[in-house]
Amino acid sequence: MVVISDATEGDLQQIYEIEVESFDQPYSLRLLKAYLILSGNLYIVAKEGDVVQGYAIGITQNKIRGHVISIATRAKARGKGIGSTILRELERRFLACGATYSYLEVETKNANALLFYSHLGYLISYTRKNYYGRNRHAFIMLKSLTVACYTD
Ligand SMILES: CC(C)(COP(=O)(O)OP(=O)(O)OC[C@H]1O[C@@H](n2cnc3c(N)ncnc32)[C@H](O)[C@@H]1OP(=O)(O)O)[C@@H](O)C(=O)NCCC(=O)NCCS
Repeated sequence: MVVISDATEGDLQQIYEIEVESFDQPYSLRLLKAYLILSGNLYIVAKEGDVVQGYAIGITQNKIRGHVISIATRAKARGKGIGSTILRELERRFLACGATYSYLEVETKNANALLFYSHLGYLISYTRKNYYGRNRHAFIMLKSLTVACYTD
């Protein structure tokens, strides 16, 4: 059974493993640790027993916006609904912090993530050129948290 909880220092090594297998420019272990201080209860993990199967990091900005800093699930655990469960929980926590919308960047070429976010009700707002490096653009995606728009 997958259980969502606040991330702790004891989860960091597994979070880092997921980060490395998920991104070509992974966050360092040091940065992942710093977010434990910066994100508070907006840093969450999905665990099966002691195994971290996915994580998300969020922050709130300007008191009205939740920013999804990072989200990933273990490669072997994808397509089982874990990412959706994590993101929905993060959105609930954004709302509880007073955010009215959720905001994220996703690489325009990351087709899987685009489908994932669309499935969860995110819409492309605009493109930020070279956000991830030369010729690696980002879509800025938004989702209102005050209008119910889940698809299931
Ligand atoms: C994006 C990511 C977090 C999704 O996690 P997940 O646990 O696989 O997501 P879910 O199983 O909850 O998928 C939910 C929906 O998203 C869509 N989706 C997710 N992965 C998909 C894929 N590879 N191909 C097509 N659609 C996909 C589907 O609509 C899916 O619903 P369905 O299973 O009913 O068809 C995961 O693929 C991942 O870690 N990717 C690498 C890191 C990354 O790109 N993070 C986002 C950076 S901006």
